This record gives sequence, C-alpha cells and structure tokens, in this order.
Amino acid sequence: MRENSIISKLSDLASDMSAGPLVTLFEDDPDRLARLSVQAPGLYADFSKQKVDAKALGALLQYASTCGLQEFFADMAAGKTVNLSERRAAQHMALRTPAGAPITLDGRDITKTVTQARDKMRAFANQLRDGKRLGATGRTIRTIVHIGIGGSDLGPRLLDQALKRYAAPGITLRFVANLDAADINDALSGCDPEATFVIVVSKTFSTRETMANAHVARNWLVQHLGKNAPAEHIIAVTSNDNAASAFGIAADNTFPMFDWVGGRYSLWSSVSLGVMASLKDGAFEELLAGAAAMDRHALDNPIAQNAPLLSGLIQFWNRNFLDMTARAIVPYAVRLASLPAYLQQLIMESNGKTQRADGAPASHCASPVIFGTQGTNAQHAFFQQLHQGTDPIPVDFIGCISDQESNPGHHKGMLANMLAQSRALMIGAPAPGDAPHKAFGGSRPSTTLLMEGLSPFSLGALLAFYEHETVTQAVLCGINPFDQWGVELGKDVARDVQTALEKPDTRGMDPSTVALMNKIANTNE
Ligand code: F6P
Repeated sequence: MRENSIISKLSDLASDMSAGPLVTLFEDDPDRLARLSVQAPGLYADFSKQKVDAKALGALLQYASTCGLQEFFADMAAGKTVNLSERRAAQHMALRTPAGAPITLDGRDITKTVTQARDKMRAFANQLRDGKRLGATGRTIRTIVHIGIGGSDLGPRLLDQALKRYAAPGITLRFVANLDAADINDALSGCDPEATFVIVVSKTFSTRETMANAHVARNWLVQHLGKNAPAEHIIAVTSNDNAASAFGIAADNTFPMFDWVGGRYSLWSSVSLGVMASLKDGAFEELLAGAAAMDRHALDNPIAQNAPLLSGLIQFWNRNFLDMTARAIVPYAVRLASLPAYLQQLIMESNGKTQRADGAPASHCASPVIFGTQGTNAQHAFFQQLHQGTDPIPVDFIGCISDQESNPGHHKGMLANMLAQSRALMIGAPAPGDAPHKAFGGSRPSTTLLMEGLSPFSLGALLAFYEHETVTQAVLCGINPFDQWGVELGKDVARDVQTALEKPDTRGMDPSTVALMNKIANTNE
C-alpha cells in the first residue's frame, strides 16, 4: 500500500517536472550540484543534468527503502540466494574481495576456494608472460586465441582494448565469438601454431558457437602439431569440468568459473585469464582493487551519497516516470569503444524482463534499450536525434581526466566536446528568425562520469559501478537480474531449424520460414 502511494506520488512529480526547463532546476535549488554529484573511488559522478529534483529524489529514496534495496545488497555480499529462479547466490563481489577478508556463501566460508582459483590464475599468467610456460615444441607463446561468447567474451574483449597502455610486451590476444566461420578463420590466420595457446571460455562448455569454434581450433592444432598438441595448447575456463575433460583438456589446464557468478558478471575471474597474462604484472590486481573499492562504496554509503545506487534510482525514474525508453552510452575514449556492447549485455540481459522474481507480472520496467558508440564519432552519427529527435534519450557521458597519450591538444578537445554536448542537450537554443529547423528544445538529461584516468583501478571502479546500478534497477522493479531464461527459446528453435535445413524438411514450419528456407536451399543447390 505504502509502495503504491509512493508510486503515485512519483507519477505526479513527473508530470510537474515535464513542464519546466531542466536548467532552471539549478536556480530553484542552490544545493542541486552537491545533492546530485558523488565522488566515488576512481570516478566522479555528476547526475545534476538529470531531470530529477529534490522532491522526486526524496520519493525515490523512500521507494528504495520500501523495496529493501540496501538489504538486498547486504544479502548479495553475504552470498545469500538472491538468484531465486536458479537458486543461487550472485557472489561476483567475492571475486575481487581483497586478500585476507573472509568470503561467505550462504553461511559457508569459501575464502579458500576463491583464493585458490585466483592463485592458479596468477601462476599461469605469470608463467606465460615470463616465457616459462612453453608450447609443445618448446616455443615461447606469442598469441592467445580466446574463444567464448556473451559474458565469456565481452568483458575480456573490453579489458584488452581498454588497457592497451598496460600491456606487457610479447603476448597478443585474439578474440573469437561468432558462429560465422570468418571469425575463427581470421583469428587463426597468420598465427604460428607452435607459439599459440587457445583458451576456451564457457561456463556451460556447451554453447553452440563456442564449441563449434573450439573444434576448429583443436583440428588446426592437430593438423599442424600432431594429435598430442591440444592437451598442451588448449586451456579451458568453465564450471563444467567433465565436458572440458571429455574435450581432451587436462584438469591442470582447466580453470574454474563458479556457479554463483553469472556470465555477464564474471570478467573478474579466470574468464580474463588471457587478459591477465597479456597485461603487465599487477595490472589485473589493480582492476580488482578498483572494483572492490566501488563495492565498499556501494555497500557502506547511504543511497543519497552512493554513486551506483543513486544512478540506479535515476534510471528507474527516467524509464518509468519520464517514459524514456532508450539510453545512450557514449565514452569519450577510443579505448572504451567496446563499453556500449559490454553494457548492452550487462543491462539488457540482466533486466530485459517482464516478470518479477516472484512470478507476478512486473509493473515497472528495469531496462531501456541500450545503445552507443565512442565520442566524438557518435556526434557525427546519432547525436542529431539526441538533440532534435522526438523522444528525449538520456545519455551517459564517460570521460577520463588524465591524458594517457600525452597529447594535451587532443585530450582537451575530447573533454571539451563531451562537456559541450551535455551542456547543449540541457540548455538547447531558440530558433533564430525564420529558421525553425534550428530550434533546440533542450532539457535533455545526461549523466557525466569522470574517470580519474583510463587506469585498471578506475576501469574496475567504472564496471563495478554499472553492475551495482543494474542490480539496483532490478530490485526497484522486483525482477531477478541474474537469470536469462529469455535466450533459451531462440536456442531451441535454432536447433530445430538447423535440423530442418540439413534434411531438408520444412514440415511444421510457418510459411515465412518455409519460404526463406526454400530460398536458401535453392541458392545453395
Ligand atoms: O545465451 C546467453 C548466455 O548464456 C550468456 O548468459 C552467457 O554469457 C553466454 O551465453 C555464454 O555462455 P557460456 O559461458 O556458458 O558459453
């Protein structure tokens, strides 16, 4: 009942809010900037250009408290069963818990399990980086081909790109995800098999794309180095040890993924084994330290001063009360070009759901459509619509304070463009004279996240920020952000269609699919 009255209060506040220009909110409330900005570990978050005022924020905070938001975070950190449909914990924070601090899973001490996994990963990465772990013919390993998809791909791919400045000389990573054979063929092309390790990353060790590509890589090794080579050159990262062993991978070369960590929350684990080996010693640990610092910030601060939770409240407000159905992610850093794709999976696979965790239909929506690309490129692509399109789309601007490239001219230009875009979206501009097409309505909301720099620490903090923000929106909507039943039907139907295509036999298919199958069959004859 109380919940309903807060929701109707939020709806009323949203109608009032729609009336006035965003920029006047600063004049109405001298404390606005302080109220809506947070210095968190590794980054400064400015929510003051969001279309939310003190009254709406107060109601959102009340709502968060009725939903038990902070209690949920405490349960998650304690390893309680917060993933109800799969009856599991969601203990991704354990993967970055500083050494020495205890880790529990539903009351059980799992510190040793986590520490052992981390030690095994570090030892392997060090050996590879230092040239102590050699290929079957005694050659130093120069290339790692990382095979995986979804959460077993997007995180490590992002880390590899983002942390180029921290790469150790010697090892290059290549990523393969797609079932299109071009992906694995391109990755293996030009690789020296004697100097190449293949890491197959799959929690289930049964994902169609990953297994098809793993078979190609195994055949390639056998063809060039003989039938014993895969045992030395292929590494598995999985929670399905039996399937890895059946594939011919020894227990020593198998690294764990835990049941209680979801794929899209797993980049902190052995999933990033190849990345760790390709980075300078200590860089991966710094990434974990940044995430752990953000975890403490999320767990210890009241929501009003808590960057990720506050952000989650504002996104919930944008989606459900201001009716904003999309959200753009625009990092002003070329090395963060993969961030929008990573966040698409994190946010949309976690929160693209219509049922609450208790099975009832959700009355609120936890996920807008996420899209984006790097600034300034985005300004010359979809920003026209952000400035003048029919529907306001909130933007996350992400920039780095320090300059990694030692090119102050470029760096200031990047930051100036980023600040200019968020300001222009907010203030708008009237049409001059008889040129109505030059009118900018303004009042278009954005968040700015200023990372201290593109360091492993700040990156770890940024990614943990988004994880906690995602979970916050799920809790406010009552949905489970840790399962992904929505991808299963597509997998089942793909199996049926492939069988039908191979036979070929179109019985039981709908007319559109039959026509498409016939076209494919006729063309391939
Ligand atoms: O199909 C979706 C999904 O299950 C994701 O959740 C996961 O990240 C990806 O596939 C890969 O799964 P796996 O690591 O088991 O190969």
